[in-house]
Amino acid sequence: MNQQNAIEVVGVSKHFGTFRALKSISFEIRNNEFFTMLGPSGCGKTTLLRMLAGFENPNEGTILLKGRNLVDVPPHKRRVNTVFQSYALFPHMTLEQNVAFGLENLGWDKSRIRNRVGEMLERVHMSDFARRKPAQLSGGQRQRVALARALAPEPEVLLLDEPLSALDLKLRQAMRNELRNLQRDTGITFVFVTHDQEEALDMSDRIAVLGDGEVQQLGSPTQIYEEPVNRFVADFVGETNFVEIEVLESRDGWATIRTPFGQVMTVPTPGQVQPGMATLSVRPEKINLGNQAQGNTFNATVIGKNYMGGYTHYILEANGIEFRASRRNASREGDTIPVNSTVSVDFVQAAVRVLAS
Ligand SMILES: Nc1ncnc2c1ncn2[C@@H]1O[C@H](COP(=O)(O)OP(=O)(O)OP(=O)(O)O)[C@@H](O)[C@H]1O
Ligand SMILES: [Mg+2]
Repeated sequence: MNQQNAIEVVGVSKHFGTFRALKSISFEIRNNEFFTMLGPSGCGKTTLLRMLAGFENPNEGTILLKGRNLVDVPPHKRRVNTVFQSYALFPHMTLEQNVAFGLENLGWDKSRIRNRVGEMLERVHMSDFARRKPAQLSGGQRQRVALARALAPEPEVLLLDEPLSALDLKLRQAMRNELRNLQRDTGITFVFVTHDQEEALDMSDRIAVLGDGEVQQLGSPTQIYEEPVNRFVADFVGETNFVEIEVLESRDGWATIRTPFGQVMTVPTPGQVQPGMATLSVRPEKINLGNQAQGNTFNATVIGKNYMGGYTHYILEANGIEFRASRRNASREGDTIPVNSTVSVDFVQAAVRVLAS
């Protein structure tokens, strides 16, 4: 066991009948990190989180909490708390009583509880509402109280299951920053579950992308977005174009490829790829158009465009292949490449990726 790890998941499988929800997955969550499990609906995020909380046991494998097998740690000694999507506040109790509840169960003395409750409500900016009941609060305020309650007993690990999904867009964005700051200030390890890739990229130190019952990739937000290891990750996180290409030669994480547009270029690859046909992932913003395209260019026809305010999305076609490129609208007029025109195109060579599968 590495001292730097809060949690180690070792070969964990979970079946429901014949359905394998999680297929022997392994990864570590470090102390004091904001760790996110990201994946599509039904990929097993909640199942995994419930096992980390000790609510459910794996069929195979072990979960180590600070080096101890979770099943050997009695529930009241597991310093792991959960914030649920539904908040699960006690409706008949005031906010103060909600936050104090867990501390009373732990046998803290009255003055210590009073201090801690005051401190926690202040931390989430809810001190003025201490005597209210949950029904008298907005969704965002309830979320804050749920956080205060979960953090009050000073857990080592806080598990959060899609805690922002019930909030509207503006509030969700504000709460992202609050959550991030709360994690930094307390130094508590946060394990955050979401299917929202933007949330994951914005908030996390590291992200585990889950799909098909497996960890598809684990890395920093930049690694996940810029260096996806496979088609699943490239597709799920952000938007991308997949282009079938031919690998001419490959070594040391680089490959020389030929695209169907006639370009020959040397681009990054994860691990080893064999010469032959492969898939290239090219994100829309890594494509230069018109006067911005230089070097290894080819011509494409603009077959459609979507004005998105901050940027414009172009749908292009070349050699019978469609792809999308985005361009920042830097001037007031926005972007002005007309539909049906022919434009010069180039892929930002160092920012595209040959995928392993
Ligand atoms: N108690 C159960 N019995 C049978 N199948 C279950 C059970 N719990 C979960 N599953 C199945 O396991 C899979 C993973 O479920 P889980 O709730 O972990 O998904 P999730 O990633 O949290 O999805 P969402 O984003 O929709 O919350 C799903 O296909 C689900 O139907
Ligand atoms: Mg879930």
